[in-house]
Amino acid sequence: MEKTYTFTYKEYSSLDDLPETDKKLVYCALEAQGKAYAAYSNFQVGAAILFEDGTMISGNNQENAAYPSGLCAERTAMFYAQANYPDKAIAAIAITSATAKVPNRKPVFPCGSCRQVLLESEQRNGKPIRVICYGASQIVEVPSTASLLPLHFIFEK
Ligand code: THU
Repeated sequence: MEKTYTFTYKEYSSLDDLPETDKKLVYCALEAQGKAYAAYSNFQVGAAILFEDGTMISGNNQENAAYPSGLCAERTAMFYAQANYPDKAIAAIAITSATAKVPNRKPVFPCGSCRQVLLESEQRNGKPIRVICYGASQIVEVPSTASLLPLHFIFEK
């Protein structure tokens, strides 16, 4: 039997089209992006997490001379959120990026490893986490992290 996977997402061309809280979340990610340690790729990524109570935390990519030891912005932010606020409900994550500190026009979407981590965070969360991927000329909002990872790995206990 053939099956089809589809999901609906939103696309915006300006930050001003976003609800105020999401706009603030993107600004929070942009601020974090400015503090990224991207000494090897010169590709700065920021991620900001919005909790349901309205508070926000952020992270950025942290590179290392031993390349695989570095970590993406999304996981830096999500692991920080879970390490410090394991019981706080999460509403959304915003992701921004720049090349050599110049903001990118197109959005960056989470890499495969981050998708796997975000998915498990969403499962812990018990409700969808919206993913807002920001580029200066295009903003994409995905309704859940599960949408980004169909047929994902699960561990049967
Ligand atoms: N990176 C992220 O932080 N998030 C992504 O979604 C993709 C890639 C980082 C990893 C590395 O520091 C740099 O961007 C170039 O790959």
